[in-house]
Amino acid sequence: MAGGAAGRVAPMTERRDKGRSDPKSIARGPKVRVRTAKKRTAASTRWLERQLNDPYVAAAKRQGYRSRAAYKLLEMNDKYGFLRGARRVVDLGAAPGGWAQVVGEVCGPATRVVGIDLLEVAPIPGAEIIKLDFLKPEAEACLIELLGGPADVVLSDMAAPTTGHKQTDHLRTMALVEAAYHFACTVLAPGGTFVAKVLRGGTEGELLTQLKQGFRSVKHMKPPASRSGSTEMYVIAQGFKG
Ligand SMILES: C[S@@+](CC[C@H](N)C(=O)[O-])C[C@H]1O[C@@H](n2cnc3c(N)ncnc32)[C@H](O)[C@@H]1O
Repeated sequence: MAGGAAGRVAPMTERRDKGRSDPKSIARGPKVRVRTAKKRTAASTRWLERQLNDPYVAAAKRQGYRSRAAYKLLEMNDKYGFLRGARRVVDLGAAPGGWAQVVGEVCGPATRVVGIDLLEVAPIPGAEIIKLDFLKPEAEACLIELLGGPADVVLSDMAAPTTGHKQTDHLRTMALVEAAYHFACTVLAPGGTFVAKVLRGGTEGELLTQLKQGFRSVKHMKPPASRSGSTEMYVIAQGFKG
């Protein structure tokens, strides 16, 4: 099932820069300005300038992480320590693989990382990541089969593709968070942790009530690596009551 239509990717090795994971050491350099060019739109000029001036993008490149998002997980784990001792971890919205790299690095080779994404993820040692829409009915069964037992941590960095319509984008991303939460309740071992990207204001109301009922501690964090202009935040729910 998981290896068929879902397109499972087999683990393999990859060169990694040791001692790279201290996010506190990331500093901003002198600002680079990008000139407009004939074939470049204003939006892509702004994007390029932001990438070139982003110390997390530079650090990820230097330290061998596939995404700047890797630092968000490092910063959250530094504060809450939920990866300590985790043996089975689920990574929802795993592409291009920065979080799976961090889990492998922090937890070591004995930890099983099982992930899913709409996009193909190049192999990561110790991780099995399927290419499938998490909202498809077969997705949960595929992940459960790969996990082979209850999870200690369920991570969700899923974000719906943006449409430009704020309310639509918000609702779509919150639908992913809700689905991730229900999945977490199915697979987490008692005491487990659920970490999910939410949009500001998005976990008020029903989801927050549900989280507080299901977990001993529910916190919000905007890690320093999360861009200040973005409305994203993370919810860290620890101590699953089972
Ligand atoms: C911000 S990226 C994740 C970055 C990742 N944590 C990392 O460190 O590399 C969000 C991902 O969520 C994925 N995604 C969005 N909706 C999804 C869905 N319904 N099923 C699976 N993945 C989804 C996107 O394809 C995208 O790759």
